[in-house]
Formats: sequence, C-alpha cells, structure tokens
Amino acid sequence: MENITGKRALVTGGARGLGKAIAFALAKEGVHIAITGRNESSLKDTAAELAQLGTEVTYAVFDVSDYSAVQREVERLQENFGGFDILINNAGVSSFSSVLDMKVDDWTSIININLLGTYFVTKAVLPQLIEKNRGDIVMVSSTAGLNGAATTSAYSASKFGVIGFADSLMREVRKNNIRVCTLMPSTIASDMSKDLGLTDGDPEKVLQPEDFAELVIANLKLPRRAMLKSASLWSTNP
Ligand SMILES: NC(=O)c1ccc[n+]([C@@H]2O[C@H](COP(=O)([O-])OP(=O)(O)OC[C@H]3O[C@@H](n4cnc5c(N)ncnc54)[C@H](OP(=O)(O)O)[C@@H]3O)[C@@H](O)[C@H]2O)c1
Repeated sequence: MENITGKRALVTGGARGLGKAIAFALAKEGVHIAITGRNESSLKDTAAELAQLGTEVTYAVFDVSDYSAVQREVERLQENFGGFDILINNAGVSSFSSVLDMKVDDWTSIININLLGTYFVTKAVLPQLIEKNRGDIVMVSSTAGLNGAATTSAYSASKFGVIGFADSLMREVRKNNIRVCTLMPSTIASDMSKDLGLTDGDPEKVLQPEDFAELVIANLKLPRRAMLKSASLWSTNP
C-alpha cells in the first residue's frame, strides 16, 4: 500500500463540498494541503479549519478556466509552499437545461470550467510531477460522464471529456511514474446537488462528501505498480 503521509496536495474547489471533504481526509492522513477556488473568504475559513489538524495549509484564489491565472498561481504556490505530489481536479459547476433553452454562454462556461479548467490545472502542475518522476492525479468526473440525460448536455459533455482527457493522460505519463485516476460519483450531498434539486442531502438516502473522500484516499493508497498500468475508474451507483 502507498504511504501518503507528508505528501503535498493541491485540491481545486477545496473550500466546500466534495473538495473540502477531500482536503480534510488528506490532512487527517498527514498530507500538506493547498486549496483553491474563486471565493477568498471561504478559502480562508476552510484553510483555518484545516490548519487545526496540524498539517501545513495554504490557499490560492483563481478561476480554473483562466489559464494565465492558473499558471501564475500554481507557480506562486510552488515557490511559497513547495512542489506537489498529488493533484485533485475537483472544481466544477453544473446547470441543467435543454439544448435549445440553455444560453450559448452558459453551455460554454460549463465546458470551460469543468473540462478546460481540469486541463489547465493539470498542465500547470504536471512539469513538477514529471521532474520528480512521481505523482498522483485524481479527476472528479461524474456518472453524467458515462451516460447522458435529457437537459445535462453541457455537464455530460464536460464530464465525458474529463474521462477522455484522463485516459489519454494516463497512457502518456505512466512512464513518468504518475498515476491518473478518474472517479465518477453519482449524487452526493453538496451545494451543487441541492441547487439542482437532486437531493435534500439526507444521509440515509444519499452519499455524503466524507464517504466520497474515503474513496479518494483509498485510491491514493492502492498499490502503485498495478495502478500505473491501467486507468482507475470508479463509479458510485446512483
Ligand atoms: N455533488 C454531486 O452530486 C456530484 C456528483 C458527481 C460529480 N460531482 C463533481 O464533484 C465536483 C465538486 O462538486 P460539489 O458537489 O462539491 O460542488 P459545489 O459544492 O458546488 O462546489 C464546487 C467547488 O468548485 C469550485 N469552483 C467552481 N467553479 C470554479 C471555477 N471556475 N474556478 C475555480 N473553482 C471553481 C467552487 O469554489 P468557488 O465557489 O470558491 O469558486 C467549489 O469549491 C465537481 O466537479 C462536480 O461536477 C458532484
């Protein structure tokens, strides 16, 4: 099993929802954490909570769909916080509407954040991992990345895209001892699923962010050699 204690992780969208739960689960394992997002005050609050667990914590404010901001902030983090061992590509948005009703700008924005944002952050972090000849990249896709549904065209296109990107990247960087894993959760209690009207978050009925975070940690601890040679694709049942 892999030991992740003492590693350094970048968690996008780490101030709330799934990203916050993942950041906490990593910090409890002794991983040093940088969380990112667009909302500075929630990042600050979550970073202060995380720091109570005794690991090093920092945060950076940037929009994942803005490539120059991603490059600038990842470089700044690398200088001030140290290079990363683990990248969790979690930041994402969702909005459901029919192809005809959704505005072009809204459709484009979902692709820009979920797909291009994942590519941008990965591209900015990857050189450090290649230089170290070691690393882990976890992509948060969705069951919507496996099957479309009426009104989810933009979200599904973005999450299908993340799976294709990750599968190609996995084949490209396994020679560099970098594992790429894609997780495809169904509905989990969070602001996103609540805003979409998918769940009221009842823990008896729906997966909690902490449950999903456990899956992320378990995946990072899986034996390394086998995991390098195949994409790890985990899907939780709806
Ligand atoms: N909840 C579910 O049922 C579910 C199911 C399957 C997959 N997922 C995926 O899981 C991931 C996390 O979702 P969640 O449920 O935790 O959603 P959430 O509660 O709405 O949180 C979304 C996170 O992403 C960040 N974010 C959004 N747009 C961003 C941008 N342009 N730049 C930087 N950060 C951005 C947000 O931070 P700021 O607001 O500070 O920008 C926030 O931290 C997403 O990729 C989502 O598609 C969720």
